[in-house]
Amino acid sequence: MHLALKKIQRFIHFDILKYRNIRCYSKTAEADAEIPTNQLKEYYSANDQVTNGLVYDTKPFKYTCIAGKKYAWCLCGRSNTQPFCDGTHRNQFLKIKERPIHFSVKETKDYWLCNCKQTSNRPFCDGTHLREDIQEKKK
Ligand code: FES
Repeated sequence: MHLALKKIQRFIHFDILKYRNIRCYSKTAEADAEIPTNQLKEYYSANDQVTNGLVYDTKPFKYTCIAGKKYAWCLCGRSNTQPFCDGTHRNQFLKIKERPIHFSVKETKDYWLCNCKQTSNRPFCDGTHLREDIQEKKK
């Protein structure tokens, strides 16, 4: 009986994840056409970091970014003000190697910012969080 309940719970959880992902990606056609880019990518060496931080969350965060404004996206995954940096990476006792990614956008609109910290298009979600190993991991 207990096992059957667990199976049902797992099925429901899976369905919720599927629904969330559909919601995340059911945008208008024109929004799908343009992949967001970091306008400051060329100006900061932090963009060349090869390591990724901890998985903070297994889904992206929707945020309205203002064109031309500079933001600092947390890469280490330990900030308390996710998805943005709060300076936690500077704590010497934590020995964190990752530095924040400074970014700005071309257009004022809603963006999906990566919260799993594993994206290849920092700081924007590229769907990497859908990987099974990331879905199983959580902070
Ligand atoms: S949250 Fe989507 S790639 Fe990280």
